[in-house]
Amino acid sequence: MKPGTPTPSTFFELANRVVATLDQYRQHSQTGEEKVLRHTAVGPLTQTLDLEKWIRTGGLDHTNLEDFLAPYLAASQHVHSPAFIGHQVAIPHRGAIMGDLIHGVTNNAMAVYEMGPSATVVERVIINWMLEKAGWFSSDQLSDFSAHPGNGAGVLTHGGSLANLTAVLAARAAAFPHAWQDGTPDNLVIIAPAATHYSIARAAAIAGMGQNAVYPAPVNALDQLRAGQLESVYRRACDDGKTVFMVSLNACATATGLYDPIDEVADFCAAHNLWLHVDGAHGASALLSDKYRHHLNGVSRANSLTWDAHKMLRTSALCAAILFKDPAALGQAFSQEGSYIFYEENHPGFDVGRTTIECTKAALGAKLFMVLAIEGEKALGQFVEKQYDDTRTFYELISAQSDFECPYQPQSNILCFRYLPLGDNQAQMNLRQEIVRRGNFYITTAIINQTRYLRLAVMNPLTSTATIIALLDEIRTCAKGKISDCTAPKSG
Ligand SMILES: Cc1ncc(COP(=O)(O)O)c(C=O)c1O
Repeated sequence: MKPGTPTPSTFFELANRVVATLDQYRQHSQTGEEKVLRHTAVGPLTQTLDLEKWIRTGGLDHTNLEDFLAPYLAASQHVHSPAFIGHQVAIPHRGAIMGDLIHGVTNNAMAVYEMGPSATVVERVIINWMLEKAGWFSSDQLSDFSAHPGNGAGVLTHGGSLANLTAVLAARAAAFPHAWQDGTPDNLVIIAPAATHYSIARAAAIAGMGQNAVYPAPVNALDQLRAGQLESVYRRACDDGKTVFMVSLNACATATGLYDPIDEVADFCAAHNLWLHVDGAHGASALLSDKYRHHLNGVSRANSLTWDAHKMLRTSALCAAILFKDPAALGQAFSQEGSYIFYEENHPGFDVGRTTIECTKAALGAKLFMVLAIEGEKALGQFVEKQYDDTRTFYELISAQSDFECPYQPQSNILCFRYLPLGDNQAQMNLRQEIVRRGNFYITTAIINQTRYLRLAVMNPLTSTATIIALLDEIRTCAKGKISDCTAPKSG
């Protein structure tokens, strides 16, 4: 190093500065005084962040870190704000954040056991805990990794979409064991409601079936699957010369937060020997709540379950699980035969890379483990329950307004409603755009049965009745076109 060249920051100096800045950012966001999102166009933002300069010259250290971090945070989506009621993204618990940090430092990229012994064991115990909640784990100890009767299998993935893809591969392997080697037969069909997350159609396309292989299940006016009418679509598929091998349902649906009837669909699948997949990416967390678990009645009769911890279990993105009732199914998803024997001989699952789409994988389990280790499972269940309860309160508040309408009573923490004076779909869309442009609230929209609604995902425990009252006022203001440079309302 040349004389006079500044010494690079140590890890500790840099970490201290980052943590101090992030803590301030998080706390300030929580007050609701800051805009939840400041819209900055790509060009100006790129300039403000001065990315080119940093890339070309380096030299970032703890003394100038703010030059980058301050504008970076300012232009970020402020999920810690009570006014963040948009997408289904957890407001990360401090435990999960520490899990990210621990992984960042240890970087045990756990494709094979020896590249992450602790990370692997944590993941396996977390998977057993999730299996237990689904009714697929009967050992006394979560640390029982033996092929105990009644114990399923599972793996953590980088997101629910990969979990759903894994489920489709496992279902295909169960019905067509040679597909892994010989390719996918060209007449396969998955039955799923149209409201199913697009990752299922994408999985069908990736698995070589084409997304037209997804036949829409009959639904009610709220896009919930009607189990009693599944037979008709099944018959139609057979008449088309197709082979139905899987039914996928929503627990709960992304747009509405409403649950499909698992038990009834399980009857249908049992009668036709079909694989039943429950996409519980968002709503499987209700398994932790005595009050709301009933929405998943029948889940233990399914073959597979997707469950995202980074939605309702306070875990930073990503940490998703794909769980199977039959322990052999996991290995079979990625090879045509012998996985159960393989399981016994080589203890797979410890080499998690054998049973995931990913090779290198982050220590995802550490994040959820850290949340559980701080809160305990009961408190985590209470968190889910509170979000569901609060959403019901917000529904009652909104439905009581003469100028708003809610199409259904929420079953989870996702709530849809319309501002009645602005009738059509485009107007609701424009309204949402204006709300987001102003930056005082972040919300989304969804189409239910061809009608567009404003949509809230109540992810933040700080989102309160006061926040929702302020949101309704904001909507009325935006609708009247009385848009001025008003300050962000205080929420929470
Ligand atoms: C029901 C459902 N399934 C799957 C997904 C996809 O999960 P991820 O975003 O973790 O890939 C989502 C995401 O919103 C979802 O709501």
